[in-house]
Amino acid sequence: MIHPHLPGDVTDRIVMVEGSGCRLRDAHGREYLDATGGLLLAHVGHGRRDLAEVAAGQMTKLEYYSSFHEFTNEPSIRLAEKLIDLAPSPMERVYFTSGGGEAVDAALRMARLYHHRRGEPERTWILARNFGYHGVSYGGAAATGMPMFHQGFGPMLPNVRHLTPPMPFHPEMYGGEDPTEFCLRELRETIEEIGADRIAVMIGEPILGVAGVIEPPSDYWPRVRELLASHGILLILDEVITAFGRTGHWFAAERLGVAPDFVVTAKGLTSGYFPMGALLVADRVVDVVARDEGFIGGYTYGGHATGCAVALANLEIMERENLLAAAVDVGDHLGAQLRRLEELPIVGQVRQIGLMIGIELAQDPDTGEPLSAGWVPPLVRERSGIIVRNNPNTVLVSPPLVMSHDEADQVAAAVTDVLTEYATRKRKRPAAPAVVLPVLDTPWDRPPSMPELLAAAMEWHFDPKTGSRFWLERAKSLDFDPRKDVRTEADLELFPNVVDELRDVRVEDLVPRGYGDRRIALDVYESGGTTGAPKRIAWLPDLHDQLNSWHSQVLDDRGVPHGANWLTIGPSGPHMFGPMGRTLAHRRGGIPFTVDLDPRWAKKCAAEGRSEESRRYLAHVLDQVGEILRSQDVGVVFTTPPLLEALAGHEELAELVNRKVRTLIWGGASMDLDTRTLFRKEVFPGAQLLGFYGSTMVGAGMYERAGLADDEPPTFDPPYPFVSLRVVDPDTGKTVPYGERGQVVMNHISRSMLIPNNLERDTAVRLPGAPGLGGDAVADIRPVPTFGGTAVVEGVY
Ligand SMILES: Cc1ncc(COP(=O)(O)O)c(C=O)c1O
Repeated sequence: MIHPHLPGDVTDRIVMVEGSGCRLRDAHGREYLDATGGLLLAHVGHGRRDLAEVAAGQMTKLEYYSSFHEFTNEPSIRLAEKLIDLAPSPMERVYFTSGGGEAVDAALRMARLYHHRRGEPERTWILARNFGYHGVSYGGAAATGMPMFHQGFGPMLPNVRHLTPPMPFHPEMYGGEDPTEFCLRELRETIEEIGADRIAVMIGEPILGVAGVIEPPSDYWPRVRELLASHGILLILDEVITAFGRTGHWFAAERLGVAPDFVVTAKGLTSGYFPMGALLVADRVVDVVARDEGFIGGYTYGGHATGCAVALANLEIMERENLLAAAVDVGDHLGAQLRRLEELPIVGQVRQIGLMIGIELAQDPDTGEPLSAGWVPPLVRERSGIIVRNNPNTVLVSPPLVMSHDEADQVAAAVTDVLTEYATRKRKRPAAPAVVLPVLDTPWDRPPSMPELLAAAMEWHFDPKTGSRFWLERAKSLDFDPRKDVRTEADLELFPNVVDELRDVRVEDLVPRGYGDRRIALDVYESGGTTGAPKRIAWLPDLHDQLNSWHSQVLDDRGVPHGANWLTIGPSGPHMFGPMGRTLAHRRGGIPFTVDLDPRWAKKCAAEGRSEESRRYLAHVLDQVGEILRSQDVGVVFTTPPLLEALAGHEELAELVNRKVRTLIWGGASMDLDTRTLFRKEVFPGAQLLGFYGSTMVGAGMYERAGLADDEPPTFDPPYPFVSLRVVDPDTGKTVPYGERGQVVMNHISRSMLIPNNLERDTAVRLPGAPGLGGDAVADIRPVPTFGGTAVVEGVY
């Protein structure tokens, strides 16, 4: 047999031969207590004669007959009725499958079909969530938000986007924002980005199960539901784990107060006495997908007579034996004991909902890495014969609902013993609160040290399993091994400056393989158009997230208002200027307005001395700015110094800016001290002037340090260590002393991008970084007159 999730060199097997209630026995006669219900089922307990008799009775009468076309059978009719009785409204019909993954697939297909038949065939996108598990059918696996189910299996189903689920125990994932607000905002932005009229459906587990028993804040699902409904997007709740009593309800949807369009069920439906799933479908969807030629596609065993008879009897047992109440009673009893484990330094959080329990471990005090939970189940089983499971760092407990208090006590004692012993052996308390994110995924405002970042980044970018084709190829001609030799910031100088190679690189080759085969929303921004053909910079969604959260944090620190509309006057499209303004406006609750520029054209005019054309182009841009400023509230303007100068010279526009705008962010070029003072004091006294030294090449820019006097040149601190700066003597390449001018070199190190030693077209004065930040800062940026033999052109941009 091929056993899922079993390494090929493991030859041991545990051959289970008998079960009764929560007890199991293997072929060697060893007894076990089942605290996982196999794979989260066995609700009514193992080895029940009453269910076996129902199966035998049905098999001897009619074991099976097809449910295709007009054929059906009595048990399936009765079961469908029963399910609709138990289900939250507006469920109206049932589609039977052989398991959960098949039911997920069916739901996804029905969702697309629904829109197709209603004349919206473009609605094919599926929104799912990171960490979600939806089985291993291709549709289910594509919706599953765990990379290991995609790696090597691609290409996965196209048009699937994974969103962030709320995980309140990990506030670091939300950059200081409330998790629900973050998730709703992300959902809103995603709908806007893809287009509501292209999205069919969203799928999610009401309570994340395999990911570690994570219940969302109570307003999450109702608000998601409302937002989706307002855009005509359907909702699938995957209740394969949560349906039929595990949470103390027939369906978690009741507990969460949300009415979906589909409910996917399996597992507890038959308690495992027959392999079966059932997809419950709401009335309005049924009206569409079952009409005309009906719904195409069925499973041979869908509506299996014996399976349905067993499921009915199983649900009757659950009612008769009051197992929903038992799940709450025994769950609370067990949960109360396990919750005491939170006192141990190695335990992060214990979560319990009915008989779904997750014990998330904290970080390893020795390594600072998230503590793996993989060692817990074998040790607990070996010591006490109790079976528990784990995901990477959470111990999962999900026993049959018939577990007694006494058995629950045994489970609590066994898990407590093993974890306590481990914690005492380790003794030390972790120094910091639990960090479960790998170094490369930490938020940019809570950075790791440079050596930590380098160790993780070199491993990632140069491991053949995870590195990009570009870097793995490039590594062949390096005379050092980045994984061994690059440990400090100074070691980055070992790298050649590769940015010229980015002018014609295949963008796909820049994506690290470790992201897997699934399609990722990739952005390509141009960089360096002032110095020849632009370079191609690949942006992955995680970089967007990390950067936007960091930017927003800095803007908060500088008192830039939330809720203000933004006006970005700068190149959109291939340059990141426009998209960045748009995302930041969204993130901060404002509406983004954009006036576009074609920087290439503007530069060409400047380079060719066509000043009349430049002037007319500028007037054309200002006209558009005027239309927006006159008719809209705008709190933040994001533009370039030459355009700011043009605004300053336009009496009406300058007056509108002073009246409406609270913050003027200028970026992308340099501004001398006199101009800055003039703007601050005389032209725009009503607005905060905030400088931004941007570079697409390093995936970001940096804001002017706060509190600088008028006679101090703008000083910029990078988001160190992800972006670090050097100022070098252009002739020798050596770092200049503090206070001296030289040419700027930038490094970008993140999971999605590695750009070391990138020589910028600017000169600047080298200064120490702001206290506590580390690294160097730069001040008084000025463009170099020529770069690589080409004149540097600065125009409106
Ligand atoms: C939430 C969820 N959806 C779907 C599935 C897949 O179900 P099956 O393995 O029956 O295909 C599972 C299985 O664990 C699950 O937990």
